[in-house]
Amino acid sequence: MNKNYYITTPIYYPSAKPHMGHAYSSIIADFFARLKRIQGFNVYFLTGTDEHGQKIQRAAEEKKMDPLLFCNDISKTFRDLSDTLNLSNNDFIRTTESRHAKSVKNLWNILEKKKEIYLSKYSGWYSVSDEAFYTESEIEDLDGIKKSISSGSKVEWVEEESYFFKLSKWQDKLLEFYNKNPNFILPETRKNEVISFVKSGLKDLSVSRKSFNWGIKVPSNKEHVIYVWLDALTNYLSALNYPNESDDLYKSFWPADLHLIGKDILRFHAIYWPAFLLAADIEPPKRVFGHGWILSGDEKMSKSKGNILDPLEIIENYGLDPLRYYLIKEVSFGNDGNISQEKLESCINSDLANNYGNLCQRVLAFCEKNSNLEVPTIEDLTEDDKIILNQYSKYYDNLLVYSDNQDVNSYINFIVEQLFLANKYFNDQEPWKKKNDKLRMNTIIYVALELIRKVTILLYPIIPSSSLKVLGIFGINEEKINFDTIKDNNYLKKGLKLNKLDILFKKIEKND
Ligand code: MSP
Repeated sequence: MNKNYYITTPIYYPSAKPHMGHAYSSIIADFFARLKRIQGFNVYFLTGTDEHGQKIQRAAEEKKMDPLLFCNDISKTFRDLSDTLNLSNNDFIRTTESRHAKSVKNLWNILEKKKEIYLSKYSGWYSVSDEAFYTESEIEDLDGIKKSISSGSKVEWVEEESYFFKLSKWQDKLLEFYNKNPNFILPETRKNEVISFVKSGLKDLSVSRKSFNWGIKVPSNKEHVIYVWLDALTNYLSALNYPNESDDLYKSFWPADLHLIGKDILRFHAIYWPAFLLAADIEPPKRVFGHGWILSGDEKMSKSKGNILDPLEIIENYGLDPLRYYLIKEVSFGNDGNISQEKLESCINSDLANNYGNLCQRVLAFCEKNSNLEVPTIEDLTEDDKIILNQYSKYYDNLLVYSDNQDVNSYINFIVEQLFLANKYFNDQEPWKKKNDKLRMNTIIYVALELIRKVTILLYPIIPSSSLKVLGIFGINEEKINFDTIKDNNYLKKGLKLNKLDILFKKIEKND
């Protein structure tokens, strides 16, 4: 089995302040990267910034700055986000780096050589905010302003000489590709949207611009810069040292296993990107998953709408792991999700403080008092003990399927259920009433400790730093976390001295 796994986030347009949508996209990708790592995969997790194009050029002009200096500053805010969000990315790519320019030019040259690109003239609508071309049927007139129906952003009329990629030629081959790779686009609803869009007919795509210069120049014609999406998408290859196809990174990790993206950029990833790659004889990625949006009210949270919830403020007030947990659990994966401070607080109180935190705290306190904070000697397990411990081996295959299918919702539902069962087990078994039956009391402690260990391994990709604190009780550090050990019922060895645990999550007091 191929044990390498390449996962990417979209590279972000550097904007002064990353918002909750950006945080969400990155946290979900980090969740998968960590989950695959503890399953024994050699994971390469990439993120970065998308720094070319008219949008960035205009933003820099507004600040009267050189575009590169402008990007240097704000790309850093996204680089810093990796620390703030505890992302485990292996690389952070900037499209202004020379390794990237080399890779884009190479791809362009191949496409040109294969006659997949030709020079003509573009006249049509363009949205600088989306860096996307729209047809007449994709725009609407709102109070005299032309806007894209799908994104709501303003479009402007563009008429200029442009290179075109022969996208229309790839229509049937793309449909064939989707057919042969039924899980290339997930979730299913998004796949259907893409397929019907492709079936409705693809036009050749303008892939260069002449009226501004902030970008990678077309190698054979310096008057043109390469369309920012052709440029940006290629980052996934550049990070693996493409065009050096004998490079270890490239050999190990291409084709990418998962491009995790928001649904707004599905067309670029699920249509243009595989078409460019097929045309260049490069294997397309294995999967593109389009997640939903974080909404504010009913609208997508975005800078242009001015409805941003600041992740940094939330982290400062509530901590990072609660935010990670909340976003992963409460936003039904694949769909849009509305987030609010009130819901975040009740999630912290019910799931993290009362359920998980309380389980760890009370079992450990009881173990400290009655078993000297050591893994005790036990007697034979009862049926009840076995049933609850065996939940993890029973559902092990399902858990793997959830991770392979990006079924975050089922994964976290399993955890919530197990937390409930573990708390119930400790309550029902009433070890505090077993002081005269030391062996039974010890066995209950042992089972409860094993349950904490198992559920914490599952929680690690979601709340890594809190989970590491809990696993630290048993002397398990990050390198030692092994997903398969959730199946073991006697991992903890008798006599193992346990470490103490500080309060994990503070309950939020409501002052109303
Ligand atoms: N630069 C392009 C991506 C190029 S990839 C080759 C881009 N950048 S972005 O900064 O606008 O968006 C980055 C990611 O954040 C996208 O996946 C986008 O869907 C996601 N989000 C931006 N706003 C969002 C929400 N409000 N909610 C959830 N994710 C959203 O697109």
